[in-house]
Amino acid sequence: PMIFVLNGPNLNLLGLREPEIYGSDTLDDIADRLDDRAQALGLAIDMRQSNHEGHLIDWLHEAQASGAKAVLLNAGAFTHTSIALYDAIRSITTPVIEVHLSNPHAREEFRHTSWVGRAAKGTISGFGAASYLLALEAAALL
Ligand code: DQA
Repeated sequence: PMIFVLNGPNLNLLGLREPEIYGSDTLDDIADRLDDRAQALGLAIDMRQSNHEGHLIDWLHEAQASGAKAVLLNAGAFTHTSIALYDAIRSITTPVIEVHLSNPHAREEFRHTSWVGRAAKGTISGFGAASYLLALEAAALL
């Protein structure tokens, strides 16, 4: 079974970008750890990143069309703005797990609303790179 791991804007700069908030691991480091854990769980990972909202929407549709078991979605700042992502998640039956490195509720007010979270199956946030691994554990249980 395939798990899509979709990453939104600015996450290509992970490791360099505000490391005091997001940590020093790169997205490739996280992908390596997810691959290891997925193998142990009998799952496969398809990890992607885009700075473009429409790519994330196309990939959500693709997750459904390809029969993926679940999607882990860190939509970056689109989390807080994108009704189109909200609609896309609601448009598919594939379960979507919202992931964040930081805990948006402990940060600026503008991060307290999550359109992704309103449509997602559940949310894991605040554990740094480990948020992805915890979300994978949750996906394995679905
Ligand atoms: C983030 C949290 C968002 O508020 C922010 O815009 C990001 C990263 C996280 O993983 O902590 O880009 O999704």
